Amino acid sequence: MRGSLTFVFVVTMLWLILHSAMGCRGGGGSNAEASLDLQDAPGEEPTDSQREDEQDETSEDISLDDEDFDLVCEGYVSPNRVQRLPSVIIIGAKKGGTRALLEFMKLHPLLKAAGPEIHFFDTQYDKGLEWYISKMPPTLEGQLGMEKTPGYFHTPKAPRRIRAMDPNIKLLLIVRDPVKRLVSDYNQFLQKNLKAGSDYPPLEELLFTPNGSLNMRYPALQRSIYHVHMARWYKQFPKSNIHIVDGDNFIKAPWAELAQVESFLNVQPVITEQNFFFNSTKGFYCAREVRTKGVWSCQKDKCLSKAKGRPKPKIVQTTLDKLTDFFRPHNAKFYELVNQTFSWPI
Ligand code: A3P
Repeated sequence: MRGSLTFVFVVTMLWLILHSAMGCRGGGGSNAEASLDLQDAPGEEPTDSQREDEQDETSEDISLDDEDFDLVCEGYVSPNRVQRLPSVIIIGAKKGGTRALLEFMKLHPLLKAAGPEIHFFDTQYDKGLEWYISKMPPTLEGQLGMEKTPGYFHTPKAPRRIRAMDPNIKLLLIVRDPVKRLVSDYNQFLQKNLKAGSDYPPLEELLFTPNGSLNMRYPALQRSIYHVHMARWYKQFPKSNIHIVDGDNFIKAPWAELAQVESFLNVQPVITEQNFFFNSTKGFYCAREVRTKGVWSCQKDKCLSKAKGRPKPKIVQTTLDKLTDFFRPHNAKFYELVNQTFSWPI
């Protein structure tokens, strides 16, 4: 009796605290908004080009705690959540739209995600599986735990390591036009350096050698040659285990790509166009999640941080043309390898 009174007291207190922090109202579903203003990702160190992609985001990029959202809107009935190995990993590509994909997938009640990038299979592997599990979201039986680390896609050791953990795991890759992805990759470093008051070279200085040919050692260029990385994944996993999201289409119609993801993951389709609204200031879609529990209804808007969907840097047209021509044959190889086409030129 005393135990249940304590439980009721704790739940009530938690509810009262959260009620003021989230957009929740009783009495037939009138919704208040709890806008999500995610923080800028912290600066990267561009000095070591091989490791430059490692600190893309931190926990500051995580959205409002979904556990809290569940607590208020789904009733706090289950202490049975357990941290376990993930069922799904978003492996990349860096700047492909990985954060938006992860955040929007969480609209599905069965999909639970770790907030920050974990980087276990690229840089933290020596920490061991227990450490990895400790970074996972607690899930109920039947829910799918996920993490995203874009660095996995282009890390040669990652496919073998992930297969050693679970050869049946489901993998998601989101890719955009490789030229746009490269510019976005460059822009990330440019903006972070400018913000920190440091200089950063123009793209051409990194992209071309002194004799004018493309600098194949530029990591942002390498990361866009998708078929090279993809071939490594197909050596370890059957094609049916890897679903490729069209990142350009994801920007225009996230719900359409998410429907395919739901089908790939064999979960009931619940995410629709109604879950999104276009934020014209940002120029991107944001997600709107509404949950109801009896007379209670909660609404949470998910717009990504300022670090996602940055204003583009001005790149001279001849540079873009050279890049477009360079990627044509690589795009064709990628289409053939994955047996899927995209809107990029070949
Ligand atoms: P830009 O900032 O160059 O526009 P990642 O999360 O893998 O780092 O990818 C970042 C990219 O996600 C952004 O690159 C942006 O184009 C893309 N993106 C896709 N959907 C988005 C959304 N709804 N809001 C913000 N960015 C989105």
